[in-house]
Amino acid sequence: MEYFDYRDGELFAEDVRASELATRYGTPCYVYSRTALENRYRAFDEALSPVPHQVCYAVKANSNIAVLNVLARLGSGFDIVSGGELFRVLRAGGDPSKIVFSGVGKTAEEMRDALNANIYCFNVESESELHRLNSVAHKRGQRARIALRVNPDVDAKTHPYISTGLKNNKFGVDIAIAERLYAEAAKMPGIEIIGVASHIGSQLLDVQPLLDAMDRVLALIDRLKAIGINLQHIDVGGGLGVRYNDEQPLEPGTWARALLPKLSGRDLKVMTEPGRAIVGNAGLLITRVETIKCNNEKNFAVIDAAMNDLIRPTLYQAWMKIVRVNEKSSAEVKNYDIVGPVCESGDWLGKDRELALEEGDLLAVRTAGAYGFTMASNYNTRPRAVEVMVDGERHTIIRARETLDDLVRGEALLP
Ligand code: LLP
Repeated sequence: MEYFDYRDGELFAEDVRASELATRYGTPCYVYSRTALENRYRAFDEALSPVPHQVCYAVKANSNIAVLNVLARLGSGFDIVSGGELFRVLRAGGDPSKIVFSGVGKTAEEMRDALNANIYCFNVESESELHRLNSVAHKRGQRARIALRVNPDVDAKTHPYISTGLKNNKFGVDIAIAERLYAEAAKMPGIEIIGVASHIGSQLLDVQPLLDAMDRVLALIDRLKAIGINLQHIDVGGGLGVRYNDEQPLEPGTWARALLPKLSGRDLKVMTEPGRAIVGNAGLLITRVETIKCNNEKNFAVIDAAMNDLIRPTLYQAWMKIVRVNEKSSAEVKNYDIVGPVCESGDWLGKDRELALEEGDLLAVRTAGAYGFTMASNYNTRPRAVEVMVDGERHTIIRARETLDDLVRGEALLP
């Protein structure tokens, strides 16, 4: 099902004209479809329905509290990586008993906050973190439930910046030393071992690396059993890709049908941490062409969104689809670089796009729901964009556009 589609040549977000949203809320404007979010969450939940499971949406992909709340209402858990994300999930009404806490640099304060909220599990990423968590929990008279996030050393075959399961990545504990660490953890008074986790990378299109990782993790589970350590869950991470252009993403059902047979006969709850696959295609970024600029070499369309709003193209050379909001145009089709107003040559959202453009035209960057707004910054003192959620014919601001006063809040002149 398409949540953003053309009707008579006009782009709609569910049942609302994208142009109406642009007029009402201004541009640049992130738009999310509630139906898309819900359907994508349900696809994962249903795919894992043959086994005990918990889908923990990865908050980093899109952390707006309205997005989190829509998912929480469906029973979603959450994968967080900071005290800030914990705060958001609780503010959004998320259930702490469904939170897993990943991340390589958890501070003692973040551990205390998470223990205070009584989250389900810490995904511990190093020996040092294990000791710190033990001591923080023990001092509070608590036992922190943990999974070790192991690094299974498989190549996820994705962009190096978003690949996390190889030995040279900073993530997780080398699977070769995991057994020793579990044995140590089993003796710690502030630790209760409940599971194991792995996450090998993002925008994965092939199931094989995930299956290889799972084989290695299952072998570890067997070795642990042999020394009397029995795990309750396996967290298979997130990472399923989405279609930006012509990729053939793994559907949750296909993914689950490949993974689940490996678990048969084992009494393990399955956890997963999808981010992009839930929210990526549930969002777009509407922007307006400010200036058309042509020289002998190139045609540039300078739009009012920039790298500060959506950094994926320049950071990962990510190709994101850019379309006209109104398909019809009498302008000549030319080859454009779609660039922002920020003072960096890296400030582009698309290169070599064949489009008919005039100043004032509206464009939409598709598949911008994940790692769009959450990676936005205020570079060049640009207020971050407004975020809107559409639900059928209804539309609501879920984050107001920042004001200039917002941008200097907390700054002070010298006395
Ligand atoms: N779990 C852990 C431990 C993670 O590190 C991540 C993502 C996820 C789950 C969710 O992965 P997903 O299902 O969204 O692929 N900014 C980059 C992506 C960075 C992903 C970081 N970790 C991008 O825009 O492509």
